[in-house]
Amino acid sequence: MEAHHPFDLRGKVIVVTGASSGIGRQCAISCSRVGAKVILIARNEVRLGETLSLMDHSHHRILPMDLTEAAETEEKLAALKDLGGIHGVIHSAGISTTLPLRNISEDKLSNFFKTNVNASINLTRLLTRPGYAAKEGASVVFITSVMGVVGEAGKTLYSLTKGALVAGAKSLALELAPKKVRVNCVSPGVVVTPMSSSAVYSQDEASLEKIRSYHPLGLGEPEDVANACVFLLSDASRWITGTNLMVDGGYTAR
Ligand SMILES: NC(=O)c1ccc[n+]([C@@H]2O[C@H](COP(=O)([O-])OP(=O)(O)OC[C@H]3O[C@@H](n4cnc5c(N)ncnc54)[C@H](OP(=O)(O)O)[C@@H]3O)[C@@H](O)[C@H]2O)c1
Repeated sequence: MEAHHPFDLRGKVIVVTGASSGIGRQCAISCSRVGAKVILIARNEVRLGETLSLMDHSHHRILPMDLTEAAETEEKLAALKDLGGIHGVIHSAGISTTLPLRNISEDKLSNFFKTNVNASINLTRLLTRPGYAAKEGASVVFITSVMGVVGEAGKTLYSLTKGALVAGAKSLALELAPKKVRVNCVSPGVVVTPMSSSAVYSQDEASLEKIRSYHPLGLGEPEDVANACVFLLSDASRWITGTNLMVDGGYTAR
């Protein structure tokens, strides 16, 4: 019999949100390469299909939904109850902005929390219920950000939401440990994706160069984040919970 490799995800069912773009898309692809069966979630069905076409194996499933709609999310996730247990979740769906304090309205606060925080907690609650999480245990990974730990001018709104998840993951890790559910964060620096390409700092070469200079190893690629997520989903990380892994090319080492 072939020896079990601790980084292997064969036989595991992994839910990836934000799978229609950027980091989430690469996470879905990388999980498929190490053998996982992947459930791809985001709103845009066409782009989810594009991700699917880049994946290894054909046993994956697309589940389009708006994660800010709690009732719709619960209804659609019910389709996963027949899978025999979910072993992992990479929650990459999220939104970002650069906004000075004077422009942070109640509406914007509420909208950002709804997408980046409320949806994360709702998803975790639903997928760790009996009948959903695998009996042998599960691993939840939140894609947070260096902005949840350090600051930059104009990043208050985004930082608030990512810092909330970094803090919440620790209490979740303690609460869910008896169920053998691990909860960790991966905090990227700037990664080249549609999100970062549309950010204000990407609009002129001088601003982009400044951002690059903050990353001693240069800007990240989605694969750099996906590899860290695969590790946190795999049995190789079975004794790791409640942590926040900085995957940032040295951004926070300064
Ligand atoms: N790129 C970076 O530099 C960077 C750095 C640090 C942290 N991050 C974090 O990494 C994560 C992924 O970022 P990215 O760069 O890959 O961004 P992206 O390319 O813009 O992808 C964002 C994903 O989130 C999904 N999404 C957004 N709102 C949703 C909703 N209401 N319901 C369901 N899905 C939703 C989008 O899918 P649909 O539009 O199809 O719904 C898309 O798949 C985010 O949480 C971001 O904050 C990114």
